[in-house]
Amino acid sequence: MARIIDGKKIALSIRQELKNDVAELEQQKQVVPGLAVVLVGLDPASQVYVRMKKKACAEVGITSFSHELSSETSEVELLKLIDQLNQDPMVHGILVQLPLPSQIDESKIIEAISPAKDVDGFHPYSAGQLMTGGPGFWPCTPWGVMELLRVEGVDPKGKSAVVIGRSNIVGKPVAMMLLAAHATVTICHSRTPDLAAVVRQADIVVAAVGRPRMVKGDWIKEGATVIDVGTNRLDDGSLCGDVDFVAASERAAAISPSPGGVGPMTIAMLVKNTIVSAKKSCGLA
Ligand code: GUN
Repeated sequence: MARIIDGKKIALSIRQELKNDVAELEQQKQVVPGLAVVLVGLDPASQVYVRMKKKACAEVGITSFSHELSSETSEVELLKLIDQLNQDPMVHGILVQLPLPSQIDESKIIEAISPAKDVDGFHPYSAGQLMTGGPGFWPCTPWGVMELLRVEGVDPKGKSAVVIGRSNIVGKPVAMMLLAAHATVTICHSRTPDLAAVVRQADIVVAAVGRPRMVKGDWIKEGATVIDVGTNRLDDGSLCGDVDFVAASERAAAISPSPGGVGPMTIAMLVKNTIVSAKKSCGLA
């Protein structure tokens, strides 16, 4: 039976450490980290995520500036708000919850965020810095995956890592991070022939496709580490991951559940990026 990677517990201990960082920063520099949280429209999942992010900020002592805009908001209006937030010295990080309504071009909005406040790590500058190994904000979910591996003592060096999914938010950046950590990385997607055979080679599996229990237990190599990034809502309202957790647990050495694995880590890393940004603003990082 696999060891369960408890993302909730690991994220809690990260947030507790970060609380001290925030207190120290306030004491040394009289700076309180600030995160602008922008939500456009009424997407129920986005509302839940935004609420959790604001709650985590409050817990560690970060001020969150909430901007909840109507689903009719125009691109020009949102760009104007981003411009204001870019210039606001109280705001160290800007989070625009995705997806945005169809009248707004997401990439235009992401590109308008100052890379210095891009705590989501979605700006092409941040993505380029990750690709080339330069300084910049790492996107929170993939960074959370890497933290889970680190805390669990799974060093990617020399290992075969298979990433299922090629999104800009998870698949591509986590592949870059694993590569930087000296894994041999394969990125799979919907057109990959015989996905099962590819996954069977993997010492580390990162599943980020968004399809409930698509990764079957017998795809997992004995002793592999499995990180499940998927959070899928089933018809009965319950949540499940991209991996058939029960069957995969029979073969994996360690596995992260969903919910309770990567999700809480995403929020912890967002909090961490915001604090780092605040530190940078006063020359401390
Ligand atoms: N939508 C899904 N995941 C994310 C995330 O990590 N950040 C933002 N801003 N939107 C998302």
